[in-house]
Amino acid sequence: MTKRVFSGFKPTGHLTLGNLLGAIMPAVRLQDEADCVYAVADLHALTVKHDPERLRARTREAATLLLACGLDRSLLYVQSRVPAHTELAYLLESTAYFGEMRRMIQFKEKSANQEEVRLSLLTYPALMAADILLHRADLVPVGDDQRQHVELTRDLAQRFNRLYGEVFVVPEAVHPQNAAKIMDLTTPESKMGKSDGSAAGTIYLLDPPAEVRRKVMRAVTDSGTEVRYDPEDKPGVSNLLTLLAVCSGRPIGSLGHQTYGALKRETAEAVVETLRPIQERHAELSADPAELERVLEAGAVRASGRTVELMDSARRAIGVL
Ligand code: AMP
Ligand code: TRP
Repeated sequence: MTKRVFSGFKPTGHLTLGNLLGAIMPAVRLQDEADCVYAVADLHALTVKHDPERLRARTREAATLLLACGLDRSLLYVQSRVPAHTELAYLLESTAYFGEMRRMIQFKEKSANQEEVRLSLLTYPALMAADILLHRADLVPVGDDQRQHVELTRDLAQRFNRLYGEVFVVPEAVHPQNAAKIMDLTTPESKMGKSDGSAAGTIYLLDPPAEVRRKVMRAVTDSGTEVRYDPEDKPGVSNLLTLLAVCSGRPIGSLGHQTYGALKRETAEAVVETLRPIQERHAELSADPAELERVLEAGAVRASGRTVELMDSARRAIGVL
């Protein structure tokens, strides 16, 4: 049977090279073999302080970029336009325990340095579980940082099925072999991310070539000289090797010995070439905002239609229908 796939992308900031290599490219590849549904998860961006106008703009930008990256053979839509996500999230909040939510690593990290922690930051994994379970996804292409949330989704699906009857498909996360965790270029001990990483160490998909080269050339390495893949002892060099391998399509082992400078130059060019077609396509698509609106509207209508049966069974099982 054809597998079903779901993944989401939060428009908290501009999409990054980490998003591309860790989740978008695997999602693009899955289109050849599976029934794929992808969403811009705008409701997830409300879990931290946000600006409404900026969120609207970034949601459109993320949707345009996902299409430009090649997610144009899937059902693509914006999460908030399909109300079943929040409906199912409530049923799953009523299945989840406070204790397990509080223990989520991302909640602990993101709430640690904030005075006003939004309640939705705590309940967010129930919404993410709803995203996945709503579409009966078998596979969820995500980076390493989402591993625990997909585990929780599995737990909630199994608990609900046990308590109320078989309603949900229990999904599995799929992580890319090399690129599950792209690190920040200036602090290679932490993940490259919209909110986690530093601006200087994060490559955005719309960074112009000169900016990409500047960021890669200033990447932090170490005081040694040996080009060797060793994420423990040489996180900076290993991250550059990963970027070069994934962007050039060559295995890490084949990359040969070079100086740090040569490695950086080669990596910068490989990243620039990976981003070039995406940026060109993004420019074309941005010239026609009405077409984007049409795609997203049609996507939301189709996605809504596909959720009716599942929502019916979930409501019936839990006793509210
Ligand atoms: P987010 O931007 O947090 O919505 O993430 C969208 C997808 O990109 C998720 O599947 C993340 O796991 C993935 N992702 C985000 N940052 C990275 C990174 N630095 N390396 C690999 N995957 C990432
Ligand atoms: N929570 C994910 C992130 O922060 C984004 C996301 C939302 C997602 N819904 C999802 C990922 C469903 C996979 C499946 O990266």
